Amino acid sequence: MKSSLPEETELRNALGRDALVVVTGANGGIGLALCKALHGAGIGLIMACRSRERGEAAAGEVRRAGGKGGIWVEEVDVARAESIETFFERLKRSGLRPTHLVNNAGTMAPHLAFTPEGIEANLATNCYGALRMGDHMAELMAPGGVVVNTVSLTCRFGHFPPRAAQDGSRTYRGTYRRLQAYADSKLLLFVETACRVEAYRRRGIALHAADPGVVSTGMLRMGCWFDPLTDLLFRPFVRTPRQGAQAALRALCHPQKSGLLFRAGSACPFPEYIRKLAQKAEGKAGKTS
Ligand SMILES: NC(=O)c1ccc[n+]([C@@H]2O[C@H](COP(=O)([O-])OP(=O)(O)OC[C@H]3O[C@@H](n4cnc5c(N)ncnc54)[C@H](OP(=O)(O)O)[C@@H]3O)[C@@H](O)[C@H]2O)c1
Repeated sequence: MKSSLPEETELRNALGRDALVVVTGANGGIGLALCKALHGAGIGLIMACRSRERGEAAAGEVRRAGGKGGIWVEEVDVARAESIETFFERLKRSGLRPTHLVNNAGTMAPHLAFTPEGIEANLATNCYGALRMGDHMAELMAPGGVVVNTVSLTCRFGHFPPRAAQDGSRTYRGTYRRLQAYADSKLLLFVETACRVEAYRRRGIALHAADPGVVSTGMLRMGCWFDPLTDLLFRPFVRTPRQGAQAALRALCHPQKSGLLFRAGSACPFPEYIRKLAQKAEGKAGKTS
């Protein structure tokens, strides 16, 4: 597989002339780079952002970078179920029919925090929000659609099941460590993605995972004294957001096969440890239903 960014024509040919791609977290880092690449290829975009103001500013930047696809900015806080439900109600009324979704929005919450629904912030944003967006979208999309969930190499050291309470009881088992909580949420997302591949496939929708690698975005900021040192020593060697967007862009071009993990220059089936955890999770769900 090629390691360069998909060319504009390659993207256009693979996605089709009438493609309409929803990108969550479209106003920052990798999401913004993704939108620029898609718009540059003339592909229609729905930029789903937590803040309309930041979304409109980002849409301006995407337009200025060049391209000619339509751009719609939508306010969606993926950490809140209600916000996602409202977004889909608006979408259905609008008559717009997305063909692709990139669940890119993500956070590494600096402190232990809970949504109004009582879900730990990393889990709510990185995992449940992405899954809810994908499940709704898979119902709305015509066969041939593609959903891409953004995972991370931190999945390797995530806890399964995650330490954060999932029952809305506002408890957390153990001391809160942001990187661990982030890894836990990404691991659960990856496992739940693997659990959904077959159901999506039955609808004719491909479901992939994309790992952007280590990318120079706001997410690398730890809010600590050593940030400037890391910037100096580390940032020059990590990927640019444009390079980080490559994994998701390549995944979008693959509607035929489902259940692949895309990295910068490669695609492979989901790793065995993910498939095993998915089997375990499905076994448990089977026993309780
Ligand atoms: N950077 C890396 O090295 C790396 C590595 C592996 C995976 N990833 C993943 O790649 C994705 C993009 O991250 P990034 O590096 O580009 O980080 P980033 O620069 O911090 O961008 C994150 C984006 O997600 C949005 N977001 C956060 N919470 C949201 C919510 N509740 N609802 C809607 N949007 C929300 C942010 O919007 P606001 O402006 O409103 O905060 C921002 O646009 C994430 O899923 C991340 O976990 C990143």
